[in-house]
Amino acid sequence: METQVLYPDQAGIARAAEAIREGQLVAFPTETVYGLGANALSADAVVRIFEVKGRPRFDPLIVHVAAPDEVPTLWRSIPPLAEKLMERFWPGPLTLVLAKEKRVPDIVTAGLPTVAVRMPSDPVALGLISEAQRPIAAPSANRFGRSSPTHHEHVLSELTNLVEVVLAAGPTTVGIESTVLSLADSPPRLLRPGGTPLEALREEVPDLHVETPPGPSASPGTLPRHYLPRTPLFLLEPGPAKGSGEHLERRRCGMLAFNEPWKAFGRVEVLSPHGDLREAAAQFFAALRRLDAAELAAIVAEQIPEEGLGLAIAARLRRASAGHARLSGNHVWIIR
Ligand code: TXA
Ligand code: MG
Repeated sequence: METQVLYPDQAGIARAAEAIREGQLVAFPTETVYGLGANALSADAVVRIFEVKGRPRFDPLIVHVAAPDEVPTLWRSIPPLAEKLMERFWPGPLTLVLAKEKRVPDIVTAGLPTVAVRMPSDPVALGLISEAQRPIAAPSANRFGRSSPTHHEHVLSELTNLVEVVLAAGPTTVGIESTVLSLADSPPRLLRPGGTPLEALREEVPDLHVETPPGPSASPGTLPRHYLPRTPLFLLEPGPAKGSGEHLERRRCGMLAFNEPWKAFGRVEVLSPHGDLREAAAQFFAALRRLDAAELAAIVAEQIPEEGLGLAIAARLRRASAGHARLSGNHVWIIR
């Protein structure tokens, strides 16, 4: 198959919508990350998402809608809290989980009785869903376990000639995936921190249950190790290097820094020179990919303040990490 790479103007979106209606796969931008989309109401179309991604079937997908009035066809009933959250946070990076209607195929929800739904804010995503006239099931458009794509180039590097259409819309704005909140649990439970800050959610859901860090039980997809770069990534810990471990020269290592460049590393990516967590989130996955492509012995990541979008970045760093490291002189001390 040859992938059609389309500019997301009216004609491009119309062609992509047609592909969705025909049961094909379309990679498309959302404000968070690129999604790998198929008609959510067609089990045959959705099966291909799992095949192309190499994603295990026990990991359910998010269904994307273009308007809140589409949710009664997906959810069995809509509690007042869901109405309130949709009103405040949609369109935007908040995914809500509730009991599903029968017409949602089991493959979408990995056999769960619930379905995750969100309305993205990206105009291309909204145009695609409304023109397709079908809800679109989409995970992030990367191979399973790898970093989420925040630019169409990331998608093309992994999925060229595996999907029918890629809508090439440049970088996404939020940069990390949506926050996933289960309203099927009582009290409501945070399944994945993401682009909607926890502090804002708590204003509407004071009894919100948060496990730190959210465990694999919370959401089937939140395996302990994920977002894996090929290069081992170590979280930087404060304190002197001691104990058993291994020295690596700094110049052989890359550094993923929050707001200040570090000296002597082979390559440094600064997420936000102003220490702005939104900017850091928007840069995060692309910076990680650049470091991963630089043929380094290891990547050392600075800890990110766990507030606002920092909570979501820190959670992803934990799950991408192979362990911990400390600095000593011109060396990185990998803790074993
Ligand atoms: O921002 C995003 O959420 C992006 C864009 C494309 O919308 N999508 C995304 O999808 O990140 P994915 O498949 O990479 O992550 C979906 C998460 C997984 O952790 C999955 O386990 C969880 O949502 N999830 C989906 N349906 C669920 C359900 N019924 N119950 C619990 N967790 C669910
Ligand atoms: Mg993903």
